[in-house]
Amino acid sequence: MELPLGLRRPVVAMAPMVTQSDRPFRRLVRAHGCTLCYTEMLLAERFARCEEYRRNALGDGVAEDDHPLVVQFAANDPALLLEAARWAQHLGADAIDLNLGCPQWKAKTGNYGAWLAADETNWPLIEAMVEICHRSIEIPVFCKIRLQPTEGATLALALRLQRAGCALLAVHGRRLESVKARRSGAADLPAISRLRKQIAMPVLANGNVRRARDILTNLNLTKCDGLMVAEQLLRDPALFQRAIGSAPSVLELAAEYCGHCLAETQRFTAWEAENVDVLRSHLRSMLCGGVGASEADPGTERLLGEATRARARYVLDWWRIQQATSVEEAVALYRERCASICPEASAGFPAPAAPPAPRQTAPSFEATPRLARGWLLSAAAAVKALAVSLYAWLWPTPCQPSCVSSNSARVRGKRREKGAPAAAAAPECTRGIDFNNNRNKDHTWPSILCSLRGTTAPNRNVGWEFFRRPLVGCTLRHKSHRG
Ligand SMILES: Cc1cc2nc3c(=O)[nH]c(=O)nc-3n(C[C@H](O)[C@H](O)[C@H](O)COP(=O)(O)O)c2cc1C
Repeated sequence: MELPLGLRRPVVAMAPMVTQSDRPFRRLVRAHGCTLCYTEMLLAERFARCEEYRRNALGDGVAEDDHPLVVQFAANDPALLLEAARWAQHLGADAIDLNLGCPQWKAKTGNYGAWLAADETNWPLIEAMVEICHRSIEIPVFCKIRLQPTEGATLALALRLQRAGCALLAVHGRRLESVKARRSGAADLPAISRLRKQIAMPVLANGNVRRARDILTNLNLTKCDGLMVAEQLLRDPALFQRAIGSAPSVLELAAEYCGHCLAETQRFTAWEAENVDVLRSHLRSMLCGGVGASEADPGTERLLGEATRARARYVLDWWRIQQATSVEEAVALYRERCASICPEASAGFPAPAAPPAPRQTAPSFEATPRLARGWLLSAAAAVKALAVSLYAWLWPTPCQPSCVSSNSARVRGKRREKGAPAAAAAPECTRGIDFNNNRNKDHTWPSILCSLRGTTAPNRNVGWEFFRRPLVGCTLRHKSHRG
């Protein structure tokens, strides 16, 4: 059967990984041999309904250099999955994938993932979800499952998915045991191999890739159309390249990843703020995991010898100490340290960017919305004050204004009754109107004028007549006087 999306055998895919399938990492693995990437699992309901969620997942749309990309969904409602799939298609995804393999607690309570597939009574619903998407959208529908308790059950589920229109099936070679035992133990690759022989749709085998040479071994064993890898790809993003020849060391890869992060930050600013943690976690996997996991692989071992291992630990320790708050800051620090301990790796960094502009002392409206709001409020207060002066000047009939500041009332040892106008508490006060007193929360025109007149506050829909009542002799103040 022909592979979807024009893929060629063997497909080597990056598995969906929550918080680890970020765009910079996808770029990195693609640059080193990966031919198909998945997003992390996204909740179909939120993707269908929440613009911000979609933006966080796919930015303004799938980037030109980020294809083919499969958007993975967790779902248990055909209509919602279809809505999410339509959005994914609209945003440029190449395919959608239905997650039927997640064993986590949230999947158990939310009734999706492996827990949905574990109950055979849910199979018609699963079939309906695949079928409606297959019929209604133009991009293909993939599924990812775990092995079922028996080989017969796995085959029955796979055949149902195939009938419903699934275009590619990824099979994680472990069974659903408990919420905790997600990836423990070896994957049952022979079971995947037997399944492969009995179904027509393309299959990706997932599991048991612990070093580069496992790629060819597992492909030969399962005779699948390709492999999907998760954990080992986090440790060695050039795993697929290493399987067929030489590839950069993990230090070089870490430097390259930093470059992709910087590019992503420039392209899509929202990415930066939330993803320093993602960047740290990838570096940790590469610098720690790659070293440890390579021990049984002589080829990789040569690249990651004792010296490199020591350097990697050093970088990592240093990294942990740093409390960088932005991707740019983190990468700049890492680049600096890397250059001093491993010059050959630091060559992988992109040319240092121009030094960041010094932090603005004068706030700009875009950069500091809070300050901008403060400015606007002050300007509004000034306009209010000007209007009061003008009013007093135009209608110079005498009145007896009193201080409306609750502060002033306190200075004079009097407490205002809750809800009563300030003037009532401090009738003898002549210090003026305190527009900026934070405790005088109600600065609406009606309440200010009421305070001046010593009446109770009207409701906000007070008529124009109220404002035409004469007011003079007020001392107007714009600074809080705190006694
Ligand atoms: C950090 C992490 C996050 C994962 N998140 C997802 C996910 O969002 N969706 C999914 O179907 N599988 C997820 N998985 C499972 C992997 O896709 C994969 O099936 C599993 O790790 C077995 O592959 P491996 O032996 O190559 O690690 C995740 C695995 C890891 C390590």
